[in-house]
Amino acid sequence: MTVATDLDTALKIERKGVDTRLRSLMRETRGVPTRLHRAMSHSLFGGGKRLRPVLLLWTYDALRTRQAIPREAVLDVACSLEMIHTYSLIHDDLPAMDDDVLRRGHPTCHVAFDEATAILAGDGLLTLAFSVLARTPRHGATVMGIIADAAGPSGMVGGQQEDLDAEGTKPSPALVRRIHRNKTASLIAAPMRAAAVVAGAHMSRIEEVTKAGLQLGLAFQASDDLLDVIGDEQTLGKSVGKDADAGKATWVGLEGFDKARERTRRYGRTGERLLTSALQPGRAASRLLELSRRLWDRDR
Ligand code: IPE
Ligand code: IPE
Ligand code: MG
Ligand code: MG
Ligand code: MG
Repeated sequence: MTVATDLDTALKIERKGVDTRLRSLMRETRGVPTRLHRAMSHSLFGGGKRLRPVLLLWTYDALRTRQAIPREAVLDVACSLEMIHTYSLIHDDLPAMDDDVLRRGHPTCHVAFDEATAILAGDGLLTLAFSVLARTPRHGATVMGIIADAAGPSGMVGGQQEDLDAEGTKPSPALVRRIHRNKTASLIAAPMRAAAVVAGAHMSRIEEVTKAGLQLGLAFQASDDLLDVIGDEQTLGKSVGKDADAGKATWVGLEGFDKARERTRRYGRTGERLLTSALQPGRAASRLLELSRRLWDRDR
């Protein structure tokens, strides 16, 4: 039995808020074919940890100044990030990519529907996210730029390309790091950067939390790869043992499990140190720091 901590309770409440808003954003869409709407909802609801939206909201809470935009508007930015992340998972699971059948404890989108619908559901979530982002007061263009850069060909999409290209090869450490930075860390750093912008933080602070986010994002992917080895399918809600089979570019594959676990800690602690120095001490800062640890010290 695992004991629920204050962090778990706070996360649960925040996730509920994100889910409620995501549901109403999905309900507000007009003229979406029923099958497409169902496929988008299938992947969006029922199991995601919502780490990126919560990271965004809690970074905003920790950095909030008098120039900050209202929290309701920040919640929409958070939801748009979750849409983009979910799209990335739908496409990541396709037969042409990682070919996975289980996601968030349910059949993957292409299994529950079909491949074409899954591709379109991903496209739908990606573009809907930008429609939501376009309504961000004051910082809309900046926030869209941050998120587009992180999600696009120089970020997540590019990382996914190099992840596939590296399958079955012996990548250099520099390549593994670049793949992890692009495919994953960019979409962990982006919510933190966007949060700092909408919170009205100074440029120096924005840069500091972005740097922290990149380290935490590297730790996050490193721990995802550890969990692919020692994790439990039921708890994770996705298949395990697939990275070794596919010959993925992971630290575990490159340097072995123990060294990879050490490296995960190192990235995580560096991220935590950078984040600590970017924040004023207080309740919001402590909560965010606890969450930052959960990004890499986790069992799901
Ligand atoms: C999984 O992300 C994909 C990676 C980038 C490693 P999460 O572990 O955040 O997945 P969900 O959102 O909780 O399903
Ligand atoms: C995450 O890497 C890639 C994305 C950007 C979606 P993985 O391929 O390891 O993620 P999981 O393990 O399938 O969630
Ligand atoms: Mg993948
Ligand atoms: Mg995958
Ligand atoms: Mg993985």
